[in-house]
Amino acid sequence: MIKCEQMYEGKAKKVFATDDENYCIVSYKDNATAFNGVKKGTIVGKGVVNNKMTNYLMRKLTAEADVPTHFVEELSDRETLVKRVKIVPLEVIIRNIAAGSFSKRFGVPEGTELKCPTLEYCLKDDHLGDPMINDSQIIAIGAATPEDLDTIADYAYRVNDYLKDFFAGVNIDLVDFKIEFGKTADGQIVLADEISPDTCRFWDKTTHEKLDKDRFRRDLGNVEEAYGEMMRRVLGE
Ligand code: TMP
Ligand code: ASP
Repeated sequence: MIKCEQMYEGKAKKVFATDDENYCIVSYKDNATAFNGVKKGTIVGKGVVNNKMTNYLMRKLTAEADVPTHFVEELSDRETLVKRVKIVPLEVIIRNIAAGSFSKRFGVPEGTELKCPTLEYCLKDDHLGDPMINDSQIIAIGAATPEDLDTIADYAYRVNDYLKDFFAGVNIDLVDFKIEFGKTADGQIVLADEISPDTCRFWDKTTHEKLDKDRFRRDLGNVEEAYGEMMRRVLGE
């Protein structure tokens, strides 16, 4: 497939058209932002880690948890061929342990194990600061249909069940994560975007060390080392 014009540039990735309208190419950057783009920086090598980790986990999710994804083929360290989808404008967040905005909003100390996983949605809209939104609001404004939202919730819990066990196997607590879904031309909901230290909280089970983007968000240092460590644990590289 031939790489054609750039269609879109986001904060962490660029998306290119191809000569086949059903596919596009995602290119992962080292740029990092936090707090809706207010904090900016570079995490050297992040694009490679996020590309390879996302592809590895998406392959496994399809094969072992029956979750369809947009992944087609890894083209290089930073580039991947994916199915062209229309992104459902929702950030789908699952939490197993209280942290971040959940701790702040509900006054639950970071590190508190939750009695069951929580599922929450934010409307993807940078100008509005990605506000939290509930099921009836999503349906009322047409961000997703009731059927698509049922599918998304089912897949999100399946992703959590699978990834929680997978990361436990490499001595990591999957604290929480954010995923996104897209709709293919033939109307199928698939997991899209990425699954990486940018979009998940990973804590070492023994030391509780943070091995994710919170090191950048909170100026904890050793950011590249944390991404490298997660790459080694997941891919053995
Ligand atoms: P939060 O506690 O800040 O709401 O974050 C929950 C999870 O979502 C955490 O794993 C980080 C991830 N996340 C993103 O991937 N993108 C974002 O813009 C934000 C705010 C969080
Ligand atoms: N997506 C956030 C930003 O817009 C980054 C984050 O906190 O993960 O800057």
